[in-house]
Amino acid sequence: MSERPERIFPMSRPAGHVPPIARYSSRFDHRPERLAVLFMGIAAEEGGRAALALSDFLAIACRSADAPAHFDRATFLDANGRRNSVAALYWPDRSAYGRWVETPDVAAWRAGHRALAEDFGQWWEPVNVAPDRSETIAFAEYRRGLSACPFSRLEQMGETGYWGAARDRIPASGWDRLAGEVASLVALGRTSESRGLRLAIRPPSGLAVIRSGVSWSACGAEQRESYERNVRPKLDAGMEYLRRNPVETGCPALRQVVLTDNEGGELEEAYSLGLFLSLGHLEAWAKDHPTHLAIYHRAMAERRKYQEALELRTYNEIYVLDEHAADFEYVNCDPSVGLIPYFAARVLASGT
Ligand code: HEM
Repeated sequence: MSERPERIFPMSRPAGHVPPIARYSSRFDHRPERLAVLFMGIAAEEGGRAALALSDFLAIACRSADAPAHFDRATFLDANGRRNSVAALYWPDRSAYGRWVETPDVAAWRAGHRALAEDFGQWWEPVNVAPDRSETIAFAEYRRGLSACPFSRLEQMGETGYWGAARDRIPASGWDRLAGEVASLVALGRTSESRGLRLAIRPPSGLAVIRSGVSWSACGAEQRESYERNVRPKLDAGMEYLRRNPVETGCPALRQVVLTDNEGGELEEAYSLGLFLSLGHLEAWAKDHPTHLAIYHRAMAERRKYQEALELRTYNEIYVLDEHAADFEYVNCDPSVGLIPYFAARVLASGT
């Protein structure tokens, strides 16, 4: 890893700020040049089929010498009524991912032979960024996603509990505004030409990918009731707003998923996987939209009230892509999936 540039832009952290509660960020002792995460989904009309196909994929994924160091799986119903089975997979660095993706069985999956043969959709959205263009926030005893990886060490940090904290946690924000290459979304008006095809789309530089998760599994009656009454409806409304207003918010894709066990059983934890044209677009929604503001203020009040007895668990991880991002790929997907509606695609293969 090369030397960090000098900070040019000041942090937002107010002088003397004391975090309302202990929060942690992932650190990497192996100093990866680039992190590697793959968000991957399989969509089918019949849910069991998607879950089975994902299990087959994960079995192949884990057989390789460069198997992911960690993964979890989730599910959601997409706008087309298709059940999606989702995997989030993590490697210690991009070179391990690069070798993994070239192993013949994995390459065959990625190419979408099975998706085309069995008529399911497959989205493949890899994230490769320097650690300096990422951030995590976690509770020490509840580690998910990047923070749950065996190569992640959690360290307590002070950049939490004020607006701008997420940006402050991204080291590159000290010398880079992390602006997006594309300022606003324009729908291309595609209708049907993505089914039957394998498409590659270059994600625009600056695209911010967020995995923002919550677990209510450790909540007793009082805090569970508060989550169900005060938080969940607002979260759902906020996610619905983003899905319905992609152009206004600069959010081309928002998938609200529930984590599952390996048999597909739903757990009491969920996350939202959002793509935003830039970190600024994501911050604008978080800071200005009444749904997140309501959740945010409620969560902060509960932190102060319960302190160490707080039972609701939240975390997030944000990645800000640069101009060297890997292509996102879509095989046999509906034209509304991922980046397809908004960005030029190359056809890599046609199965029909
Ligand atoms: C149960 C759901 C949620 C709760 C309780 C919640 C609560 C919070 C809280 C308490 C913070 C401040 C964190 C800190 O720095 O200590 C925060 C920040 C943030 N949240 Fe959420 N949130 C939820 C869901 C989401 C979702 C789904 C997204 C995006 C898709 C999101 C985006 C953000 C962003 C970008 C920030 C950083 C703001 C900044 O530091 O400037 N949140 N949220």
